[in-house]
Amino acid sequence: MDSPPRLAVVIGGTSGIGLAIAGRLMEDGCDVVITGRNAERGRDTAHSLSQANPGQSVQFHALDVRDAAHDGDWPTILDTRPIDTLVLSAAFGRQSWVTETPPDVFLDMLHVNVAAPLRLIQALRGHMASPSSVVLISSDAGVEGEQNLGAYSVTKAAVNMLGRMMALDLARDNIRVNVVCPGDTVPGMRYLLRPGESQRSEHDYLSWPLPPRGRLGQARDTAELVAFLASPRADFMTGTVTLVDGGSRAGRPDPSPHN
Ligand SMILES: NC(=O)c1ccc[n+]([C@@H]2O[C@H](COP(=O)([O-])OP(=O)(O)OC[C@H]3O[C@@H](n4cnc5c(N)ncnc54)[C@H](OP(=O)(O)O)[C@@H]3O)[C@@H](O)[C@H]2O)c1
Repeated sequence: MDSPPRLAVVIGGTSGIGLAIAGRLMEDGCDVVITGRNAERGRDTAHSLSQANPGQSVQFHALDVRDAAHDGDWPTILDTRPIDTLVLSAAFGRQSWVTETPPDVFLDMLHVNVAAPLRLIQALRGHMASPSSVVLISSDAGVEGEQNLGAYSVTKAAVNMLGRMMALDLARDNIRVNVVCPGDTVPGMRYLLRPGESQRSEHDYLSWPLPPRGRLGQARDTAELVAFLASPRADFMTGTVTLVDGGSRAGRPDPSPHN
């Protein structure tokens, strides 16, 4: 008898990088559960994912990661199926220096970007398959901070260490934990706003410097690495923090024109 498809849960799977990861894992034969806050976006996304991958099932679950009250709903959502891959992608940032970030915004960012992934893993640990894999989506700004994304950089540095510490804790449950750090990726980060902005300009990225690779990232670039980390091919990988940034953090480039 055929074994049932693997199950992947992608928190923040309704747009950008999370959506590309959900689609890529479906290509690998996974059924997926995706979450986000906006129910209309979630339903539309689930519909397009299922159209693109007719052999796999996709389920949308509306969830604000701040809200612990729904953690008890997971057994019903999962319908007793163990999770093979858990991806935590939801996050937000502010385009401002850390010293100019209001304390309430800083605390909320720590909550969404760092504390919520930890709480969700605590809530879902008992539902993970053995073996299984967790992937935290961090940022290149967590490896080398960006002054203009000060508070966000701090939270992503914390995510990097969170992933490594969880890899140690969860090893005894046969759960691997790895962290992926995308560089500038378009489209993406709808919630990387300037103070006073309520919506991010679609053209924001036009001013971004290109990394050595000569192009900005695409969500698929990160999704490919996540698919690898989630697969048995990465069985010996846990506690890693890996950049997918086109070389932007490789080192300081020569500022003078070359040849
Ligand atoms: N794009 C980049 O350039 C870039 C670079 C480095 C790292 N990253 C990281 O990659 C990850 C994904 O970013 P992205 O570019 O894909 O962003 P995105 O397009 O803005 O997607 C964010 C996703 O998270 C959900 N979400 C946001 N806040 C949430 C909350 N409080 N509760 C529940 N769901 C929430 C969104 O759904 P709703 O809108 O419905 O809530 C959406 O599904 C983030 O961790 C980000 O830090 C991105």
